[in-house]
Amino acid sequence: MTVAQITDLHITTARDPLNQLRNQQRLRQVLRSIHALRPRPVAIIASGDLADHGDPAEYAALKVILADCEIPIYFAVGNHDRREAFLDAFGGPGARQDENGLIQYAEHFGDLRMVVCDTLEEGHDRSGYTAERADWLARTLAEDTETPTIVVLHHPPIMSGVKWMDPDPDAPWIGALADAIRGHEQVRVVLCGHVHRAFHGLLGGHIVATSPATSIQVTLDLTPVDMEKPDGREILVAEPPGYVLVMVDGGHVTTHVCVAGDYEAAVAYTRPFGFH
Ligand SMILES: [Fe+2]
Repeated sequence: MTVAQITDLHITTARDPLNQLRNQQRLRQVLRSIHALRPRPVAIIASGDLADHGDPAEYAALKVILADCEIPIYFAVGNHDRREAFLDAFGGPGARQDENGLIQYAEHFGDLRMVVCDTLEEGHDRSGYTAERADWLARTLAEDTETPTIVVLHHPPIMSGVKWMDPDPDAPWIGALADAIRGHEQVRVVLCGHVHRAFHGLLGGHIVATSPATSIQVTLDLTPVDMEKPDGREILVAEPPGYVLVMVDGGHVTTHVCVAGDYEAAVAYTRPFGFH
């Protein structure tokens, strides 16, 4: 069984014609690639920055694109999203709210449990993941300590090395998140977005895996940057769109980082596998 993760769709409208077309085409490419997978994933989780400005018209545009999606889709929100506009368009089984109105919920897919967390602090790019939200995660994880579990949140709690995208490593939310997941052996991986690039690290004894964006990617430049002084460096790059595929086989959970595109076969299976 598999579940696909897409992230950082940044769907927009004619207010930004370049990104309107580019991000829509890239999302459609990713969805085509996911639908072509065998076996077909049982679900897709879209882990935030669904819209570029959180506008109702952007969510309406996203709804049009997703109308062709034949796979059940679930959502988390990111720093570019706005809860009210998002919920008006997508509230329901794929985006349930906790008792405080945050978009946080758990879902079972056969042998896999998914726990989706809300890190959005509206009006800010940083994570708004508070101690109260970490309490919700700790309680939710404690409800089922047996089923292999993936935790999904928009903001990665680990350093990419791309300085202008990274959080303060000492930010309290990272410690709170680490405490919430530490010792929960059912948590197989923490899936994130936000940085528009695939990278992996450890938090609280667990693997954190960040997915490439369906939209454009962040340039891999690990040199220091002055956040107040633009130096003309490239910060975003039109590398191909990507996604993550989570494979579940019994207790084994593995993540694949995938490039979306229409690529020719290179070699076919015409002779038995074996040593030559
Ligand atoms: Fe983003």
